[in-house]
Amino acid sequence: MAVIETNDLTRKFGDFTAVNAVNLSVTEGEVFGFLGPNGSGKTTTIRMLLTLLKPSSGTATILGQDTRRASKQFLQQIGYMSQKFSLYTDLSVRENLTFFGRSYKLYGKQLKERMQFALDMAGLKGHENTRTSDLSGGWAQRLALGAAIMHRPRLLFLDEPTAGVDPLSRREFWDLLYNLSQEGTTIFVTTHYMDEAEHCQRLAFIYFGNLIAQGSPEAIIEENVPGTVISFEPDDPIDVLRTVEAAMDSGEVPPGRVSLFGAAVHVVTQDVERMLPFLEAQFANAEGNTPAFYYETPSLEDAFIALVKQADADGQSG
Ligand SMILES: Nc1ncnc2c1ncn2[C@@H]1O[C@H](COP(=O)(O)OP(=O)(O)OP(=O)(O)O)[C@@H](O)[C@H]1O
Ligand SMILES: [Mg+2]
Repeated sequence: MAVIETNDLTRKFGDFTAVNAVNLSVTEGEVFGFLGPNGSGKTTTIRMLLTLLKPSSGTATILGQDTRRASKQFLQQIGYMSQKFSLYTDLSVRENLTFFGRSYKLYGKQLKERMQFALDMAGLKGHENTRTSDLSGGWAQRLALGAAIMHRPRLLFLDEPTAGVDPLSRREFWDLLYNLSQEGTTIFVTTHYMDEAEHCQRLAFIYFGNLIAQGSPEAIIEENVPGTVISFEPDDPIDVLRTVEAAMDSGEVPPGRVSLFGAAVHVVTQDVERMLPFLEAQFANAEGNTPAFYYETPSLEDAFIALVKQADADGQSG
């Protein structure tokens, strides 16, 4: 069952289109990653899905309800941890959870039960009376997650929940997300971290308002980086990049893709037998060092770079 379904969802701010005819489909129970560079429309999309912002055109159906006619109880089924999530820093852990629980109409025994669940989940047992301002970043973030699920939402929106958190805390946070997902909560999460994206069941990639990919990480890689990646670190990567690009354009080597990854050049090709000798020949008579060539399995990052290049090229030609 689709828990989120959008149909040409669009939001303009004046003449500027922040979200352009986006069609998302999120299935019940999955961890769905929403990726895209800064300013691409992720938060704007989430705000529309939460009914906080009206679409300029298009529609969204969340948990079977059209957001234009969502019932009063609609938000009771949804949890939200916003990009700059806010806890009351002068309140204790317990007071924060109580406040969020009450705002979801939890009282008495039910509130107590859910508080225990949130404390357990966040690993905050024994810290109930700690002031929130004294929690480290990773703990505050887990408390914010606890607060967002006090009312046992069916669908949870997390907008860059792990930004600025250390790798270990990020991993622990994702373990919590998997547990929630296993219990049936659908999770819609934005992130800039590729390792996190690779762990989502499905992903959508939005690029300056346009959805340019949607599917499982494997499918997105397969579709956009068909072939093998040859990786090497030449002395002058930009020079080599231009040479390979020109050779691909002129047909001297089979078509493929070439991009920079820090000091490394990644050449994606379906014809290693012809590509490798060409690359080796570039260094045969040169004065510098001949780099070592490695074969790599294409990563999600390779796929996104390919997608962005394609989108930029389409934008220029169209
Ligand atoms: N209320 C608003 N009025 C005018 N422009 C807005 C408004 N809200 C967002 N925008 C613009 O819409 C675009 C998309 O913003 P949005 O916050 O959705 O991006 P994002 O993908 O969440 O970025 P980030 O990764 O930085 O959080 C940006 O160019 C932003 O400046
Ligand atoms: Mg944002």
